[in-house]
Amino acid sequence: MKNSIWFFLTVSIFSVSVVSGCKDDKEEEITPTNNPQQQQCDTNAVTYSSTVSSIISSNCLSCHSSSLAQGGVALDTHTRVKAVADNGKLMGVITHAAGFKPMPLGGAKLSDCNIAKIKKWVDAGAPNN
Ligand code: HEC
Repeated sequence: MKNSIWFFLTVSIFSVSVVSGCKDDKEEEITPTNNPQQQQCDTNAVTYSSTVSSIISSNCLSCHSSSLAQGGVALDTHTRVKAVADNGKLMGVITHAAGFKPMPLGGAKLSDCNIAKIKKWVDAGAPNN
């Protein structure tokens, strides 16, 4: 009797740890942002040409090319992106701040990492680098 209780306890503890072990693994795969943001997001080498323009090209140019320029905003050159960076609209729309149209319009918000990269560039004065 005593032995079977120990056996039962050991089996239950073992299965609980196996089940929760698997659960943790899955969560890590699906949401890598479980780890501190700094480890995941490298904002050190952010430039307009290599970083900001490619984020904008994948997420914004479908509506803000020079020919479409929805809302009167074209984001296809450094000068045009710098204009909305300098007047505060760029950070306002991508962070979905109150009082700004949330962008990309009707789409998913940019990742925290992409927002952090754009913020770094805007805070540096939106240079043409
Ligand atoms: C599906 C189309 C679409 C996408 C994608 C999109 N926009 Fe827009 N955007 C619009 C439209 C339409 C407006 C005008 C909204 C209005 O004035 O009601 C607009 C307006 C803006 C404005 C001006 C807001 C203001 O208050 O004057 C900015 C800045 C802007 N978008 C930036 C972006 C950025 C940055 C991205 C990418 C992260 C993006 N948009 C993606 C459609 C889009």
